[in-house]
Amino acid sequence: MHNYSTTAAVAVHSDLLSLSHLRRQEFQGLLALSADLRSRNPFGQFLQGKSVALIFEKPSLRTRVTFEVAIRQLGGWPIMLGSAESRLGEREPIQDLARNLSCWVDGIVARVFSHHDLEDLALFASIPVINGLSNSEHPCQAVADLLTLMDVWPSWSGKEFVYVGDWNNVSRSLWHACSLAGLRFRAICPDKYGPSQAEPVEWSTKPSDVKGADAIYTDVWASMGQEDELEERLELFRPYQVNEKLIAKTGKHTVFMHCLPAHRGQEVTDSVIESDYSLVFQQAANRLPVEKAILVAVLGAGIQTEKAGAKRKNGGQL
Ligand code: CP
Ligand code: NVA
Repeated sequence: MHNYSTTAAVAVHSDLLSLSHLRRQEFQGLLALSADLRSRNPFGQFLQGKSVALIFEKPSLRTRVTFEVAIRQLGGWPIMLGSAESRLGEREPIQDLARNLSCWVDGIVARVFSHHDLEDLALFASIPVINGLSNSEHPCQAVADLLTLMDVWPSWSGKEFVYVGDWNNVSRSLWHACSLAGLRFRAICPDKYGPSQAEPVEWSTKPSDVKGADAIYTDVWASMGQEDELEERLELFRPYQVNEKLIAKTGKHTVFMHCLPAHRGQEVTDSVIESDYSLVFQQAANRLPVEKAILVAVLGAGIQTEKAGAKRKNGGQL
C-alpha cells in the first residue's frame, strides 16, 4: 500500500523547475499533500494575502486554469501577465522582470519556450518560481499523473509504466517522477526522437515492446514550438500510434494516459482515449489539487517549509 506522509512535503522549498531536484521523500510528500488538499472542504486559506504572477509564453488550458483556481481557492491572488509582457527577454531583460516581480508578488508560475530562460528567471527572482512547462520538463503534470496512478493502483509493486512516442518535456518529468516514486519506467521511441545518451533511461524502438505494460502513456508527436516539424514527424511516428491493437499487445489490463491536449488520430485514437481504461480526465482533474500542493510547498504558506529567502543562498534551486 502507498503510505506517504504529508509532513514530508515540508522539505520542498524554493523553486520547482525540475523533479530531478527533489528528494524521494519530498516528492512523496507532494503526492500526500495533494491528496490531503483534494479532500479538504473548506479548501484552507493557505495563500491568504499572497499574490502569484502567471507568465505564459505558450498557450495553456489545464495549467493556466488550475493554477488560477488553486490560488483563488487557497485565498491568494493570481496575476496573469498579458501576452506582450510574457515573452521572456523581449520587452526587458529577464533579470529586470524577475527583480521587479520579486518586489510585488510572492511567487511566479512560468510556462516558457526555453528552460534556460526559466533558470535565469529563478536565479534573479528572490521569490519561488514554478515550472508550468518548459521545452525540457513538465513537472506539475507528472505529479498529477502519479497521483492518478496512486488512485487506481494500491501499490507500485510489480507495475510497469511505459511511455510511447516522442521523448519530450512530459516524458522526461514522468521518468523523474517514476524514479522518485519507485515505479518501473520504460520508453518506446523512434530512434531519432529517443532520450539522449546523457539520460540513463531504459528504452527501445520497437512498438511491440509494450508487452507487459500496466500503463501506456503518450503525448503529441510535435510539441508546442515544433509545429513546423509535424509533417516529417507524422510518418516516422505512425507505428507508435496508441490504438486498440497496440493496447492489446500489452497482454495486460493496461490503463491509458495522456497529458492533453491530444491530437486524436495521430498519437492516439478516439477509441482509446474514450475507452473505460483511459485515465485522461482523472489526470486533468488531479492537476488542481497538485497545483495547490506545489503552491503550498514552495510558498511555505501555512504548512511549515523552508523560507523562500533560502533561495539566494543556494543559488535558487532545490
Ligand atoms: N497538460 C497540460 O499542461 O495542458 P495545457 O497545455 O492545456 O496547460
Ligand atoms: N509536449 C507537449 C505538452 C503539452 C502539455 C508540449 O510541450 O506541447
